[in-house]
Amino acid sequence: MRILVTGGTGYIGSHTAVELLNAGHEVVIFDNLSNSDIEVVDKIKKITGKSLVFYYADMLDKPALDKIFDQEPIDCVIHFAGLKAVGESVKNPYLYYHNNIVGTLNLIEAMQTHGVTNMIFSSSATVYGTPKSVPIDETFEKGQCVNPYGWTKSMIEQILTDIQRANAWNVVLLRYFNPIGAHPSGLIGEKPNGVPNNLMPYITQVAIGERKELGVFGNDYDTPDGTGIRDYIHVVDLANAHVCALKKIGDRSGLSVYNIGTGKGYSVLEVIRNFEKVNGIPIPYSIRPRREGDLASYYANADKAKRELGWQPKYGIEDMVRDSWNFQQMQGRSVSSEQDS
Ligand code: NAD
Ligand code: WQD
Repeated sequence: MRILVTGGTGYIGSHTAVELLNAGHEVVIFDNLSNSDIEVVDKIKKITGKSLVFYYADMLDKPALDKIFDQEPIDCVIHFAGLKAVGESVKNPYLYYHNNIVGTLNLIEAMQTHGVTNMIFSSSATVYGTPKSVPIDETFEKGQCVNPYGWTKSMIEQILTDIQRANAWNVVLLRYFNPIGAHPSGLIGEKPNGVPNNLMPYITQVAIGERKELGVFGNDYDTPDGTGIRDYIHVVDLANAHVCALKKIGDRSGLSVYNIGTGKGYSVLEVIRNFEKVNGIPIPYSIRPRREGDLASYYANADKAKRELGWQPKYGIEDMVRDSWNFQQMQGRSVSSEQDS
């Protein structure tokens, strides 16, 4: 298939482009480079030894989208493009609703105009809000999202659900849990702007000496060691879930929804211990107050994806912490180390 990967120079999109090319698909990427670098295109080519097409474009620019669809015969869109920083979405909700919702509506309009009826969407476990229990499966109701970012995901899921029903599209919603890690080559990985919000990039920046210590947000949760539990999934496993989801598109299966996680949760302290053991680097930390909006424990029941997509995560937490560190080492330290939060 010829796949349009929106946001394809980003963290998950670039890893997915690699796996799509490795699986024999053709890849067209567009990205406005608001949170990624153009060098990623050459790194994807270097990893795979294959070519791909890149457009520097913004999904808010409708003529630019039409030009891409005019020039490129697209079989399926995998839609990663969007803003994803939870804290920023709280401070600037309009930016998130405008970029993510209006941008997606522009993309849908371009698809409709050009007869493209297949989409895989980057959704998030955050659409479940505060689940009634864990593990979370796809029968759980969507909940009250705890930030505008989460609401954009939930709203886009609803838009795509209604579009699919009205126009007989094939839509796969993939609800990611906590992607971490990097391609084993170390050429691509997660490069957050500024002070990292997420756990793993903060740990690797402590390890490389860019941050003094990790703040552990609360150790008084109702979990075995008191720290938050999450379902971390290697980004390469997540990328391969998209390759598997294309089979569902090929089966013209209408609307499908899948949790993409490993089904196993790790606490913050367990992640720290695994990082220290695998990489031989101590991670100094101090206990801080809980972060607003955090939940104690959040992990997937991913059996449906394993059953219906023939998808199986291959990597464990030791691979994730190893590959995260390998990528950080390849990056080195950034020139200006921000003040620690
Ligand atoms: P990322 O920021 O690395 O990638 C997103 C890409 O989209 C970036 O390259 C950015 O430049 C591009 N982009 C943003 N707005 C755009 C616009 N208007 N036009 C064109 N390009 C635009 O983020 P990621 O971690 O790779 O996430 C990819 C998708 O997966 C996002 O939609 C995110 O919400 C979703 N997701 C991420 C996580 C996670 O923990 N990383 C979890 C669940 C869901
Ligand atoms: C993981 C655990 C923190 C940083 C977020 C988004 C979610 C999705 C995935 C986009 C928690 C603890 C973290 C730190 C810490 N993104 N932590 N110190 O919050 O589960 O999910 O990323 O869709 O929408 O909310 O991931 O990595 O921020 O936190 O103690 O400096 O690590 O409390 O228990 P989270 P995270």
